[in-house]
Amino acid sequence: MNLLKRELKPGTVLVPCPAVIVSVGDETETNLITLSWVANLCSKPPRMGIGVVPKRHSYDILKRVGDFVINVPSQDLIEETVLCGTKSGRDLDKFDATGLTAKPSTLISSPMIDECPLNIECRTWKVIEVGTHHLFIGDVVAAHIDESVLDEQGEPDLAKMSLFTYNPLVGQYWAVNEFLRDW
Ligand SMILES: Cc1cc2nc3c(=O)[nH]c(=O)nc-3n(C[C@H](O)[C@H](O)[C@H](O)COP(=O)(O)O)c2cc1C
Repeated sequence: MNLLKRELKPGTVLVPCPAVIVSVGDETETNLITLSWVANLCSKPPRMGIGVVPKRHSYDILKRVGDFVINVPSQDLIEETVLCGTKSGRDLDKFDATGLTAKPSTLISSPMIDECPLNIECRTWKVIEVGTHHLFIGDVVAAHIDESVLDEQGEPDLAKMSLFTYNPLVGQYWAVNEFLRDW
């Protein structure tokens, strides 16, 4: 094997990336923001990170509230995901604009999105100013999954979840559909 490799400009060239909708807020204000800079960071304690640009309307709400929900959308929520990533909460209420339902979380102030099959409640542990993006590291304090996307073992079935992924280099959304093998 001798692949002919082309040099890329050093950058955040990892593909594919998640595309999630983060919900954040309290009784004062609630907002939704689509994020791709999202990752599992640590297993014990369970911690996840989201990278947010300080000029986003969501940024100050994230700072003030101190918690957030990572909502994983299915393919039927692609338009809602795009809207939450292209419009600002400064200009419109994204729950109203998308028709998505804010459901109270179990342990934190930020509500979850009822229509998303997977919701991960995070309480902010640390915010690190990395550069253009500030990394909000959250302790995962609760998580919820739609019963109808589980397999016989009670584990998430990706075929049933009908997920999509994002290529930030070209701004494309791709379906995650095909099972390859067990580990
Ligand atoms: C697929 C996708 C991924 C995005 N990923 C991020 C991200 O990781 N961090 C970020 O700060 N903005 C990201 N954005 C941009 C914000 O979602 C967008 O600027 C949004 O309108 C900000 O909303 P707000 O002003 O209500 O906070 C992404 C947008 C899209 C469409």
